[in-house]
Parts: sequence; structure tokens; C-alpha cells
Amino acid sequence: MSKKVVVLAGDGIGPEIMDAALVVFRELIKIKNWSIDIEELNFGGAAIDHEGSPFPEKTRQACETADAILLGAIGGPKWDQATERPEQGLLALRKQLNLYANVRPITISPVLTKFSPLRPEIASGADFVVVRELTGGIYFGEPRSLSEEEAIDTCSYQRSEIERILHFAFSLARTRRKKVTSVDKANVLATSKLWRKIAEEVAQEYPDCQLEHQFVDSAAMSLIKEPRRFDVIVTENLFGDVLSDEASMIPGSLGVMPSGSYSENGPSLYEPIHGSAPDIAGLGIANPVSMLRSLAMMLRESFGEPEATGWIEEACNAVMEDGIFTKDLGGTASTQEFTDAVMEKIRRYADEYTI
Ligand code: NAD
Ligand code: IPM
Ligand code: MN
Repeated sequence: MSKKVVVLAGDGIGPEIMDAALVVFRELIKIKNWSIDIEELNFGGAAIDHEGSPFPEKTRQACETADAILLGAIGGPKWDQATERPEQGLLALRKQLNLYANVRPITISPVLTKFSPLRPEIASGADFVVVRELTGGIYFGEPRSLSEEEAIDTCSYQRSEIERILHFAFSLARTRRKKVTSVDKANVLATSKLWRKIAEEVAQEYPDCQLEHQFVDSAAMSLIKEPRRFDVIVTENLFGDVLSDEASMIPGSLGVMPSGSYSENGPSLYEPIHGSAPDIAGLGIANPVSMLRSLAMMLRESFGEPEATGWIEEACNAVMEDGIFTKDLGGTASTQEFTDAVMEKIRRYADEYTI
């Protein structure tokens, strides 16, 4: 294959875990003899520092013409008072590329069960996906304002925005256990009332799938009480942000969870669901699994390479099964040591494959 991948390492631990992903990616490119052009560009706080904007024009143009984008993480205390924050760059990127569907898969491999804050009999076997609407809702609604006396945010959704994310969720459910849980706050919010109505309408087109509705507060509770109940959770932007961080702790660390963001026909973006982790940035101890799994997701979803995807996912699990863990999972391995161990596994899988 011949492709262009734009790499935005970002801030904090972003560059540390991106280094890990790039070492693995470059090795796979060599093994598989792919022709892939990797373009590394400034984004987020790093771009504010170097180019005066979190989403510079050069980065925008490269993203628009990419086949896929790999993003580390952005943000940090250094830019908290900046006129334009790194986070605004991320929101602008999502909006610019129309990345309306954010998929956050939550699985708990057997090796992680013991790290779950939930009892093993509750956590084990949990396997669901949070489909988060990513370009609408309160993140983008107008008017918005902030003064000393008053602050306004607006949550708005168009019918077309709700319809397309629900179609996305039902289509995904069809490839899984065919159950969609639509999460809203329809007992209070107008946007949620419309959301629930449209969910019922769209469900008519997927008679093989089951639709249930759940209020967001109750869904937050069920994630802890009975996470195996869920297959596909579909929800609006802010609820999806909160619920996916909550769900990410089921396997014991935010540091192992990837995500993919999709538009109708443009490039997709792959990034961990966590942030730049300023509390551990620069220490070389970040867990690279979230980033490695994001790379794996890119190879499967954007480039149709299930074998290389499998190698990355299998290698991460196998390294953990060998008892090698970063600090977030109670281990002592550095990011580099963990990545070296992953590389060793991948080279072994590749040798077996070429024999
Ligand atoms: P965070 O996700 O960065 O960190 C939360 C906790 O999880 C921290 O204790 C951190 O050390 C830990 N953690 C996260 N990823 C880890 C990893 N790979 N390995 C080990 N531990 C890990 O959330 P925060 O501290 O609330 O936010 C920090 C900054 O990141 C903020 O500026 C925020 O806006 C930004 N942020 C960016 C993204 C993104 O780039 N997509 C996502 C979330 C937050
Ligand atoms: C995420 C992050 C972002 C969000 C921030 C950094 C804008 O928390 O990707 O989950 O809220 O979407
Ligand atoms: Mn978040």
C-alpha cells in the first residue's frame, strides 16, 4: 500500500507514547514493505510555541490530504491561560475534518482483570463500544460567552447530526451483538428529547437490532454495576466524553484505551482517549498501550491490515502476560522498556509468518 499518515505527537506524554508507536510502525513498514509517507507536524501546545496557533495552516492542509492521522495528546498547564488553548486546536481539527463519530472500544483482556477497580466477576468479559458524537452539542453550540458575572454555553443538535450518529451506531451494532443503548437526559434536556425520538425512528431501519434508552446518570451507575450489559453505547458529545473516561477504568488504566474518529468520507483520526498527563510527562513512564492500540486501530480500519493489527494487539497483551507493566498498572517498566518488549514480540510474529 502507498499512503500518507500525518503524525501529531502534541504535548506532555504525547511525544513519549508517539515515539513508541512510531518505532513499531516503522518496523512494520519495513517488515511488510509498505510505502508509507509519515509526516510529523506541530499541533496543540507545541504548535502554539512554534507557530503561534494550536492548529496551524500547514498542519491543517496536511491533515486534509492525509489517508489517516495519528494523534498523541495535547494540553497542559503551560497553556492554561493562553488566549487560544491547545484544546481549541483539537476541537478545530475534529470540526474541520467533520469527524462526527468517535469510537471508543472498551475491552478487558484477561491479563488486565486483576487491575480493574471492579471485582473480577463484574469486570471480566466486559466488551462494549462507546460511540460519541464528536462535532456537535455543547462543545460547539452558539451563543457562548464568559464574563465575570455570567457564563453561557449552548447545547444544540440538528436532526441530521443525530440521525447520522445513530445510523453509525446501529451499523456498528450489526457487526457485534446487535444491541444499542442510547444514552441521554431526556427527562430534562430538549436536545435529549429530540435525540430519543430520532433514535426510535432510526431503530425502525434496523429491526434486527435492539434499542434501549438510558438516562446518563443511570448509565454511569450501570457501567460500574454491570458493564457486560452494554454492547454499543451511543451518546452526545459531552456525555460520551465523561462516560468513556469512566469506562476506561474498567480495564484498570486510562493508559490502555484507543479511539478512532470518522467522517463520512475523509481521513480518520486515531488517538488515545486520555490526555497529555502532565503529572507524569517527561518521566518516561507513560503507558504506550493506548497509542499502540490506536496505531493498530488505524491499520485495521483505515488500511485494512488485520494481520499487522493483530500482531500489535497480541504483542501488547503478551508483554503484559510476561509481567511487564508500566507504573499506572503497578509495574516498574519504562515506556521504552515496554516498547522494546513489544518490538521483540512483533519481530518474532513476523519471523514465524515469513517462514
Ligand atoms: P489525562 O488523561 O491527561 O490524565 C488523567 C490521569 O491519567 C493522570 O493521572 C495521568 O497520569 C493518567 N494517564 C493518562 N494517560 C496515561 C498513560 N498513557 N500512562 C499512564 N498514565 C496515564 O487528564 P487530565 O490530567 O485531566 O488532562 C491533562 C491535559 O490533557 C489537559 O490539558 C486536558 O485538556 C488534556 N486532554 C487532552 C486530550 C487529547 O489530547 N485528546 C484528552 C483528554 C485531556
Ligand atoms: C477527549 C478530550 C477532549 C474532549 C478535550 C481535550 C477537548 O477530553 O478527547 O476526550 O473533551 O473531547
Ligand atoms: Mn476526554
